[in-house]
Amino acid sequence: MNINSNYDNLEQSYLFSTISKKVSEYASQNSDKTIIKLGIGDVTLPLCKAVTEAMHKAVDEMGNQSTFRGYGPEQGYDFLRNAVKNYYKSHSVDLELDEIFISDGAKSDLGNILDLFSKENIVLVPDPVYPVYVDTNIMAGRSIKFINANGDNQFLPLPDENIKSDIIYICSPNNPTGAVYNKEQLKQWINYALKQKAVILFDSAYECFISDEKLPRSIYEIEGAKDCAIEFCSLSKTAGFTGTRCGYTIVPKNLGKLNKMWVRRQTTKFNGVPYIVQRGAEAVFSVEGQKEIKENIDYYKRNARLISDTLKECNIWHVGGKHSPYVWLRCPNNMNSWEFFEFLLKNIQIVGTPGSGFGKNGEGYFRLTSFGSYENTKEAMRRFEKLFK
Ligand code: MLT
Repeated sequence: MNINSNYDNLEQSYLFSTISKKVSEYASQNSDKTIIKLGIGDVTLPLCKAVTEAMHKAVDEMGNQSTFRGYGPEQGYDFLRNAVKNYYKSHSVDLELDEIFISDGAKSDLGNILDLFSKENIVLVPDPVYPVYVDTNIMAGRSIKFINANGDNQFLPLPDENIKSDIIYICSPNNPTGAVYNKEQLKQWINYALKQKAVILFDSAYECFISDEKLPRSIYEIEGAKDCAIEFCSLSKTAGFTGTRCGYTIVPKNLGKLNKMWVRRQTTKFNGVPYIVQRGAEAVFSVEGQKEIKENIDYYKRNARLISDTLKECNIWHVGGKHSPYVWLRCPNNMNSWEFFEFLLKNIQIVGTPGSGFGKNGEGYFRLTSFGSYENTKEAMRRFEKLFK
């Protein structure tokens, strides 16, 4: 057999695995130190009551002969697809049920969707970016073009008509920078994609952090998007599902064969999300569920404000945190991203994510997450002030 030699072109390990290994090594040699992790965007608040109650009920159903369920529909149960449909409707987007596909999270489907596209397609990715977009295309051997996101364009690059591309990745609110496109800016991307006959893969995993009504939560809020965009969302950050796993992917029927191809792909390679998890996900969209998750999101936003206020006090340049759980800062004293990572870990035992792990334009930057507990975030910021104020 021959191996897929494209894997030789990847970094040796996935960004967050590298960080986790470094932190474990440090922890094993410094057992007297308390490490605070503001690195990977993993939630810390538990699932809300509406969700756990729905899941308990579903567990009982599964243990009862008359309500037990075996294989479910690969695309997800209609009760959850309807809940997602109504959620989109609440921000003025009309979807048909068979455009909605329940998934086990955005990351998986962002990788899986590439099954539908030829290897010859040119991929356009902003830099810095969530490493999954890049790594999954490297694995498939596609050529990738980067578009610069930096301080000059507020980390919101706009399309360049002279660049030819077939598959375009957009994440808004952005991971890692926290920057959010407005409707006019997304319209420019849609016009570009339509002209290029390209597809936009729109990652809206952080949409629930948007608090300004005028900013789009879904690309379908903008005219023309259904003719060129697939949207990926997840309940990981919205409702604390990082360990529970559930998300949804929207493949509009206007995209020609892609909707049918995705059905074919999913029915062949995927057996759906567990019934119990889908019942929990349905509860996220209930009135009670929405109220409870909002409280959790507000809690994380308070952490983000605390981080931002502290950085301001310390005169550290930063963006994000307002419509996003991430704060993106420039490393002080001209340190590069990994130097700053080591510096924080060794001196104040804070873990963050080196910006260079998200691409070359991330060099010299650093990402902190607001997903920690308030107490830990407060303690982390106290340590920051001691070092930088
Ligand atoms: C991140 O920290 O960038 C995210 O948690 C990664 C993910 O969602 O897979």
